[in-house]
Amino acid sequence: MNLETMEQTPPADPVPATATGGDFCPILGFDHLELYVGNAKQSAAYYCQAFGFECTAVRGLETGERMRASCLVEQGGIRILLTSALHSSHDAARSVRRHGDSVAVIALSVPDADEAFSAAVSRGAQAAAAPATARDEHGELRHASIRLYGDCVLQFMDRRDYAGLFGPGFEPPPEVPGAAAPRGCGLLAIDHVVANVELGRMNEWAHFFARVLGFNQLVHFDDEAISTEYSALMSKVMQDGSGVIKFPINEPAEGRRKSQIEEFLDFHEGPGVQHIACRTDDIVGAVSRLRKNGVEFLRVPATYYDELEQRVGKIDEPIERLAEFGILADRDEDGYLLQIFTKPVEDRPTLFYEIIERHGARGFGEGNFKSLFVALEREQAARGNL
Ligand code: FE2
Repeated sequence: MNLETMEQTPPADPVPATATGGDFCPILGFDHLELYVGNAKQSAAYYCQAFGFECTAVRGLETGERMRASCLVEQGGIRILLTSALHSSHDAARSVRRHGDSVAVIALSVPDADEAFSAAVSRGAQAAAAPATARDEHGELRHASIRLYGDCVLQFMDRRDYAGLFGPGFEPPPEVPGAAAPRGCGLLAIDHVVANVELGRMNEWAHFFARVLGFNQLVHFDDEAISTEYSALMSKVMQDGSGVIKFPINEPAEGRRKSQIEEFLDFHEGPGVQHIACRTDDIVGAVSRLRKNGVEFLRVPATYYDELEQRVGKIDEPIERLAEFGILADRDEDGYLLQIFTKPVEDRPTLFYEIIERHGARGFGEGNFKSLFVALEREQAARGNL
């Protein structure tokens, strides 16, 4: 697999994004996300100390792996595999050179990887890796991948015949005497994974998810809804038949200055995953712990809270507590949600995280877009990129 030639072109046929062919590609949930990073060992330390993850499996020279080193970090149902290259010819090295640390693989748990792969490819997906079996004394893991936006791949993972640790080749991490015991921050599951794509490509990718994977379009935000004085973006949210998997897709819209999406595309050098939203059922507790651990969050002006109750109505949490931590609230017809966004977690202004607590609401915090973008643009200006 050569990253230089991996620019994926989505099928360009005019299938409406709302058209689905039934649930021909059943998905059980997110299996894991794999990030290619410059140094998996040090990234794992950051994810553990700052975000409260626990390293549960490793692979590398000590486990017989010659080309890459990986640490799996877990919290609740969230699994993030951090992989770095042990040799410059490995894909992870080329990916980091171009994108910096970024999401390389979105792995979905499926009942049958072969069926998912052949359904996707027969509907126009480009194969990244044909179905293959990884086996050890704990059983067999069946997996296959198709290409996604930029250099990302979507992997289908079938674990029904595997009872081991994360996968063949992985071992428990070595015990480090005196190391602090892992302390979770209350993150429970991946809620959604958002991509930024180039101007004019959002619809193509919405069609891709509809045609290739049978997803529905959940919502669409145009640049009228998401704009500030300076920049604008458009967004479509695609979700699978069960509603478990949600992939919002953003593209920049014409604005007076460089949009946050363009800044991402410039520094990521192409499309890719912009943010990963993690669900919690105690956002105040989670953010309090994350902040103590040194995680930096975007702040909206204090005036945001002045009219919050008029806008979202009665919510269980005291507004003062939300204001203290900079947590945002929004309401849709199904309920309300609380959310907050970290600053980028690497030097490039690319990948960041969202923490979200849902009380019925199925949206994405549309009511917060404007105040958020103003906060984002303040950061962008500080970076000299507005
Ligand atoms: Fe989000």
